[in-house]
Amino acid sequence: MKTLFRICSIVLFFGLSFLLDCAYPAGEIPLYKDAGRTVDERVADLLSRMTLEEKILQLNQYILGENSNVNNIGEVSDTFIPGIGSYIYFNDNAVLRNSLQRRELEVSRLGIPLLFGFDVIHGFRTIFPIPLAQACSWNPELVGQACAVAAQEARMSGVEWVFSPMIDVARDGRWGRVAEGYGEDPYATSVFAVAAVGGYQGSDLSSPRSVAACLKHFVGYGLSQGGRDYEATDVSPQALWDTYLPPYEAGVCAGAATVMSAFNDINGTPATANHYLLTEVLKEKWDFGGFVVADWNAVEQLISQGVAADKKEAAYKAFAAGVDMDMKDFCYKDHLGALVAEGKIPVARIDEAVANILALKFRLGLFEQPYAVELPEDERILLPYNKELATKMAEESMVLLKNDNGLLPLCAKTVAVIGPMADNREHMLGSWTAHGRVEDVEGSIYDNLQKEFGKKMDFLYAAGCGFDGDDRSGFAEARAIAEQADVLVLCLGEKNAWSGENASRSTLALPAIQEALLQDMKKTGKPIVLVLSNGRPLELCRIEPLCDAIVEMWQPGIMGGKALAGILSGRINPSGKLSITFPLTTGQIPMYYNTRQSARPFQGKYQDIPTEPLYAFGHGLSYTTFEYGDLYLPKDTIRKNEKLRLEIQVTNAGNFDGKETVHWFVSDPTCSISRPVKELKFFEKQFIEAGTCRTFYFELIPERDLSFVNAQGERFLETGTYYVMVKDKKIKLELID
Ligand code: NOJ
Repeated sequence: MKTLFRICSIVLFFGLSFLLDCAYPAGEIPLYKDAGRTVDERVADLLSRMTLEEKILQLNQYILGENSNVNNIGEVSDTFIPGIGSYIYFNDNAVLRNSLQRRELEVSRLGIPLLFGFDVIHGFRTIFPIPLAQACSWNPELVGQACAVAAQEARMSGVEWVFSPMIDVARDGRWGRVAEGYGEDPYATSVFAVAAVGGYQGSDLSSPRSVAACLKHFVGYGLSQGGRDYEATDVSPQALWDTYLPPYEAGVCAGAATVMSAFNDINGTPATANHYLLTEVLKEKWDFGGFVVADWNAVEQLISQGVAADKKEAAYKAFAAGVDMDMKDFCYKDHLGALVAEGKIPVARIDEAVANILALKFRLGLFEQPYAVELPEDERILLPYNKELATKMAEESMVLLKNDNGLLPLCAKTVAVIGPMADNREHMLGSWTAHGRVEDVEGSIYDNLQKEFGKKMDFLYAAGCGFDGDDRSGFAEARAIAEQADVLVLCLGEKNAWSGENASRSTLALPAIQEALLQDMKKTGKPIVLVLSNGRPLELCRIEPLCDAIVEMWQPGIMGGKALAGILSGRINPSGKLSITFPLTTGQIPMYYNTRQSARPFQGKYQDIPTEPLYAFGHGLSYTTFEYGDLYLPKDTIRKNEKLRLEIQVTNAGNFDGKETVHWFVSDPTCSISRPVKELKFFEKQFIEAGTCRTFYFELIPERDLSFVNAQGERFLETGTYYVMVKDKKIKLELID
């Protein structure tokens, strides 16, 4: 019976296509080709001319070019599928793309252009620090500008849709993808989501510098059990609403063009088959007007997740749940026709999904300008401004974790630069680097230190050991140069493939060989500066006590060496602060600042280790001293419909000019739903000249800043006592009706 239906539907499609073969009478310029009409009018007109088969093809995405993703490296695809909606475009210039677009437009009955997407996670060719590091800058404007650079390079290279930003709140550093997001806090992630969407999309998607953004991975992916990628997540409705959904709501409000459904199962229903989340929440409650794309093969994976028996059922479940475009696995292409013929999928749902996709093609201006201009490299990538911005972003995202006795900035005659990261450029790029190349990385740490200090300081170098393994044969050479130096700069860290997708680790500790190298160097008695390059928070409990200073440089991208050298020399005053907690040990996971209140806050600690993290969320030192005045609020009672302007003065009492970020937290000790011990509500970064002071303001709006959300996603505001906190300053506030 099923086969009969399938045959009937195929016959029906071909019949219809034949009947409608003439898209419009000769001489007629159809309405949808008139750029003067609204997008809605154009979509409706085009849709009315399409056959069901043409519509279904629009709902599919395939791959084009040579895959540079470590998962599928080298896989080449130039398969031409006439009428398909979109391709993931792996090449780094527009030539292949344009040739396929040309081929498509030659055969397309209605002249519907293809849409080309790609993973641009922290830059296209100008590689910026990983997003986790970018968040440590606490500079959303800079994050937006970095995304705008990535957009410009991508669009001018033939990509008009990026699968970014990743806005999964992540609190388990074992999960490799923690590198791709903005850290542990829902508010901060929301702010960076908005900045990224604005940077990518600009004010006009049809501009040759703009791309469509994609919020991913909707939702709860960051909670994969044990930090193992692709695993199921169990999340309470309460946590879903107060922690994991807010960044998506913010991104949708900011106008993100698309959303990607996640791989993970969420509370028994895979995210890609989750009608409640995709349709009831995203499309209905939030009125999301763009389209939802499934993650790579995620529709077919509904079979391995145990909710679909075959690809047809998988197609049905994903499409009925609200996924508009199927990435790569052709479940939609091969089965939606039959599902419509069987009456399981209404044509109205097909029309809705197609309309969402066509609308984006119109907004991107693809009907008017389907081809990307084929520019030479020096006009589209690695432009001086792009590199300048990458330097700035790296400078602001590095975090000075420790600086005992003012060891930094460096003041020495001879410095030994030791460790597997010391003269390495590859791993500075970090995971998922789009078209980033090692040769674009402007020098290793060692190269840049020599450049920065010139003749003022001597630098000696030895790797000492590899990133992992147990070969200690290089220790002796490292020891020998260490003996000759006044200060040791130990450069340790992770390879770029140790984080990102499918890169989970059971421990946050560096491999034993790296710790052993540092321990061995300590025997020289020389002061140690530890420089870390990694894609996740690290377990540093064994090596932190041996170091006098620690700089977290993260995976800083192509200009990272220069930025680090500037920090070590004191040319740049570090201003990064952690966007994610560094637990003391891996066993403390989960460990994040905004945990819910405990029944016995003074008990329940670990017997064998401290319960405090090594470095808390928001930690980050400067070469200067910032002194905080008292928190000032004009009155301590406020009505629900009032606003209150709080302020605090910060004085730069040291000798360095510097930037300081003030984090404003709120806590509600008694509420009908237990709330986190404190919640970030606002942050601001300002430049403060040495010897001057600046006022930081927070305009508190009760509806926005004191309210909470329940397990059904309904926001409520309760009268009573609240606290506002900045650092160790705390002030009480009464909310009345
Ligand atoms: C799988 C990843 O989870 C997702 O982030 C990415 O955008 C797609 N593959 C496409 O490459």
